[in-house]
Amino acid sequence: MTQERITTLLTENRSYLPPEHGKSSAWISGTEEARAICQRALEDPDDFWAARATQLIHWYKRWDKVLEADDAKHKYRWFTNAKLNASYNCIDRHIISGRRNKAALIWQGEKEMDVRCFTYQMLYTEVCRVAHALTSLHVKKGDRVALYMPMIPELVISMLACARIGAIHTAIFSGYAEGGVRSRIQDSKAKVVITADGVRRAGSIKPLKANLDPILEKCPSVAYVLVVQHAGVENVTMVKNRDIWWHDLVEDFTLDVDFPCASMDANDPLFLLHTSGSTGKPAGILHSTGGYLTYAAHTSQWIFDMRDDDVYWCTADMGWITGHTYGVYGPLSLGATTLMFEGVPTYPKPDRYWRIVEKFRVNILYTAPTVIRSLMRMGDDWPERYDLRTLRVLGSVGEPINPEAWEWFHNVIGAGELPIVDTWWQTEAGGAMISPFPYASKLKPGSASFPLPGIDAVVMGDAKKDGEDVSHENTKAGHLVIRKPWPGLMLGVYNDEEKYQSYFKRFGYFDSGDGAEIDEDGYFWILGRMDDNINVSGHRLSTAEIEAVLSKNQYVSEAAVVSMPHEIKGEAIYVYVVLKDGVEWTDDIRKALKDAIRKNIGALASPEYIQFVDNMPKTQSGKIIRRMLRKIAGNVYDDIGDTTTLAKPEVIDEIIHGHKNVIEGKPEMAKRYDEPEQEEAKPEAEAKEEKKA
Ligand code: WTA
Repeated sequence: MTQERITTLLTENRSYLPPEHGKSSAWISGTEEARAICQRALEDPDDFWAARATQLIHWYKRWDKVLEADDAKHKYRWFTNAKLNASYNCIDRHIISGRRNKAALIWQGEKEMDVRCFTYQMLYTEVCRVAHALTSLHVKKGDRVALYMPMIPELVISMLACARIGAIHTAIFSGYAEGGVRSRIQDSKAKVVITADGVRRAGSIKPLKANLDPILEKCPSVAYVLVVQHAGVENVTMVKNRDIWWHDLVEDFTLDVDFPCASMDANDPLFLLHTSGSTGKPAGILHSTGGYLTYAAHTSQWIFDMRDDDVYWCTADMGWITGHTYGVYGPLSLGATTLMFEGVPTYPKPDRYWRIVEKFRVNILYTAPTVIRSLMRMGDDWPERYDLRTLRVLGSVGEPINPEAWEWFHNVIGAGELPIVDTWWQTEAGGAMISPFPYASKLKPGSASFPLPGIDAVVMGDAKKDGEDVSHENTKAGHLVIRKPWPGLMLGVYNDEEKYQSYFKRFGYFDSGDGAEIDEDGYFWILGRMDDNINVSGHRLSTAEIEAVLSKNQYVSEAAVVSMPHEIKGEAIYVYVVLKDGVEWTDDIRKALKDAIRKNIGALASPEYIQFVDNMPKTQSGKIIRRMLRKIAGNVYDDIGDTTTLAKPEVIDEIIHGHKNVIEGKPEMAKRYDEPEQEEAKPEAEAKEEKKA
């Protein structure tokens, strides 16, 4: 047998057919049906999207045109002049269609006994009251309301209350610290911020409102702060005439109160959500009401095969796009039951997820590779204690899933039977773009499989160099580009048209910023970001943003941030720093730099390592070659690239020398390369003394 055949067979072995059980009643059943739908959607997108929008969404008024496209400006407006309201679609229509007493939202708090459940009727009541409460704070259609909140029902209620009024919510992940929160509030010019006293995190309580107070001094747009009493933080400072307790305000509105939904244009913004841009500044991604909601409902129904009696659980924080689309808008617009969990997978024990699956008889579980990897490490004993037989579809999102984690998820959690939908997408996309259908696609572990209907995804070479589309040739890797617009595509970037245009600059089509490879069977394999974003535990971070924080330190001359592979997190952050002339390399500075990142961005951006270097690898013109730094951070020393192009090729050896010491936990040994190497690590103080002498 030739080597080639063996390889093919091995690849073949690692593919899985969709389960037979459940196939006959699935929304999309079998490869042929999936293929036919995809073909139809590409051939006549207007007809396809009009049909989906009609099936899934309640419109007050139908559209004049399915799509108005201005290709020169890359402006795409879906369902023009149509009218709808997202809150109506997620609540009201289910009340009159027989789902009044169905659980819309099940909330499991970090404490086992903390459970809250809202039927569609109950959700309606709370959302109406909060819409009134916000109106009493002068929130109107088009105003921005920032949500800096833990994973509590009030977050979902706030989102839907904003949607009801037509106000634009802008969620800020509760793990962000000062700088991240400030820039988002300032950029959105939010009128009201909704927050909580604190967040529960693995048994401890972290303040939230107290974080906000110093930030708000520099946010003049904010007139009111609504505070949910949640974690029992004592002595919360409330600023007079600005801060109001949620319970005090909402209580003023009676339970029988109705709040009529604003009639929104399909292209009125529904929400704003910032994501890491390719510069230091986060990009405010603006999503539409009609196109976004259609796309959220459409993908939720087909990729999860969502049915009326399912309990569906998306584990993502609602502060991220995944929580918006697949925790709130997708499932609720379909009238499904969505589960929300406040805690972390490993607290108090690493059985927490499996316990929740058994407790609420979860049917669909959508989570992230980083979670799967960390739970896999804890051993099979934990899931084996629970009855996971209600599960029928598993999902993964946020980063490429490695085949080992895929197999474990499939075998141990999915009893060797359940399909895994590996969904590839991003904040800008509104919903999944490449994903299998659970009962239609043959799966290959590690591949997100095929583009969804209407998604014209191709892999392109470097347009600047060869300008050619290499999508269907060979199996070459390249840039993952989407050629046709889809309803979930962002409306624009808030206050930053240039940034919006930058997505289309290189190829004339939407550039996802990811790399991908298409194999001989047409399966897409996502290779990760090709821009300066890093994906740490599924959290998208911008290296430029982290570098900007480091550069502000008085001792830092230059900083370069790159990614390094990490067993659990997928990618981790590795930092190279050149200090100013004459400044000693000390642990104190290293600590100060770490603290600055934690304070300005948040703990999620904490670097794994900080390495001091004398020089960065630079071109003759002074540009830092981050590609080489990334290789070294990833322990790849022999394939650095052509070092003769460097102004000082010898810096590579210096940096490798330092790197080896840093990862062995001996940063003090990574001293200037030309110093004689010390035999043993000496305490910092001793080394300093010697130097002075
Ligand atoms: C990465 C999260 C591989 C990708 C929805 C993308 C993935 C970035 C996958 C977007 C996946 C997301 N396989 N990579 N299934 N899903 N990514 O904006 O690099 O927070 O560009 O949206 O995550 O991250 P964002």
